[in-house]
Amino acid sequence: MTLFLADIQPWILAAHITAVIAWMAGMLYLPRLFVYHSGTMPGSEASEIFKVMERRLLKAIINPAMIASVILGVLLLWASDWAFLKHGWMHAKLTLVLLMGAVHGVMTGHVRRFREDQRARTARYYRVMNEIPTVLMIGIVVLVVVGSRS
Ligand code: HEM
Repeated sequence: MTLFLADIQPWILAAHITAVIAWMAGMLYLPRLFVYHSGTMPGSEASEIFKVMERRLLKAIINPAMIASVILGVLLLWASDWAFLKHGWMHAKLTLVLLMGAVHGVMTGHVRRFREDQRARTARYYRVMNEIPTVLMIGIVVLVVVGSRS
């Protein structure tokens, strides 16, 4: 199995990068929707439209892309016969990926609270939240690209 995965490694890597792009696109856009949504009146037409947009973005893009990124990432580790796990940069990358997963969980909670018309947070909170996945993403990309080449 490891030999077969090593043979098709470039295809797995291409799929991993594609899935990661889709996951990140959603993680960067969803808090923007929260900023706009928090400026609407609960029960208004605009608020109901944001609920649909948030739910679809989460269920149709963010969740499946996250699952695909992780499965394909694990296949890449397997294709290397787990050799990548000997490197400190991979441990650091996986730590940041775990934090990204935690932010994903927090955002899922916000989608639920908006759906129930709860408005516990200010627009400023969502603006700050918007920056967290960006910082994590930059860290992950630098670790995996610079780490694997040095
Ligand atoms: C559990 C989740 C993940 C695992 C197990 C994982 C694992 C891996 C592995 C083993 C590679 C191959 C490294 C190489 O061939 O040099 C890789 C490549 C890559 N990963 Fe991940 N990854 C995960 C999530 C992510 C996330 C969330 C991002 C970005 C936000 C990301 C971005 C990348 C990039 C850009 C590459 C290509 C690096 C290159 O070609 O040098 N990965 N990943």
